[in-house]
Amino acid sequence: MSVHKEFKKVTTHSLQEMKSRGEKISMLTAYDYTMAKIIDNSGVDVILVGDSASNVMAGHQTTLPITLDQMIYHASSVIRAIDRALVVVDLPFGSYQGNSKEALQSAVKIMKESGAHAVKMEGGREIKDSIERILTAGIPVMGHLGLTPQSIYKFGTYNVRAKEEEEADRLLQDAKLLQDYGCFALVLEKIPAHLATKVAQSVAIPVIGIGAGGGVDGQVLVTHDMLGMTHEFNPRFLRRYLNLYDSMGNAFKQYIADVKSKNFPSEKEQY
Ligand code: KIV
Repeated sequence: MSVHKEFKKVTTHSLQEMKSRGEKISMLTAYDYTMAKIIDNSGVDVILVGDSASNVMAGHQTTLPITLDQMIYHASSVIRAIDRALVVVDLPFGSYQGNSKEALQSAVKIMKESGAHAVKMEGGREIKDSIERILTAGIPVMGHLGLTPQSIYKFGTYNVRAKEEEEADRLLQDAKLLQDYGCFALVLEKIPAHLATKVAQSVAIPVIGIGAGGGVDGQVLVTHDMLGMTHEFNPRFLRRYLNLYDSMGNAFKQYIADVKSKNFPSEKEQY
């Protein structure tokens, strides 16, 4: 007997249709099978295997240290869990900025070895050649402008970007260029809401924001942040839907107390 799934898989084209009909796009990060399964079953549209794995999973201060092979490990774990969502994987720092040939090799390796559906790259006009070359291989590319964490040592801080007119103008131009190069969507991170709204209205491709206000076509959050697992990170844009740091801490404390007091395992919990 064949099983007919009732959902339609999300594609780059569905995201474009969602923008056209004014339906907001939901996107969350995942780096492992179990989390990705829960997120996909919840009906999220896009799962981002972000290089934020460098911070969240590996405890690094920045996203710079994560390698291509580590991104592939995370992405293939996520892909094994997915029935519906579009899975986008970050090209990590150093895997695409050098030259377009290297960029294509990195993107092909991710697609071949993880089974992901698209890649994301940080930057505008300066990575034109890399974007265009990856697109010639039929690999969909999502852009990322505003606060681009791979450039943290250039920026010096994680503060809001593009508050000044010159940077805002450049960002708007870059968004239009990314659309012209052929990107299927764009992430805008931590920029003023009025600028993000203007970008979303100026390009036809979907614009997904994080700390970019409600005037864009969709929202993305880092899952561990919105679940309240990373309790020391408190930017204004972050809405916490749970306080898992405390809930999990309490569960661990209870378990330890049960072991120490010989309350666990009980007779029913043994063979
Ligand atoms: O790496 C990541 O998680 C990201 C999001 C913050 C957009 O790029």
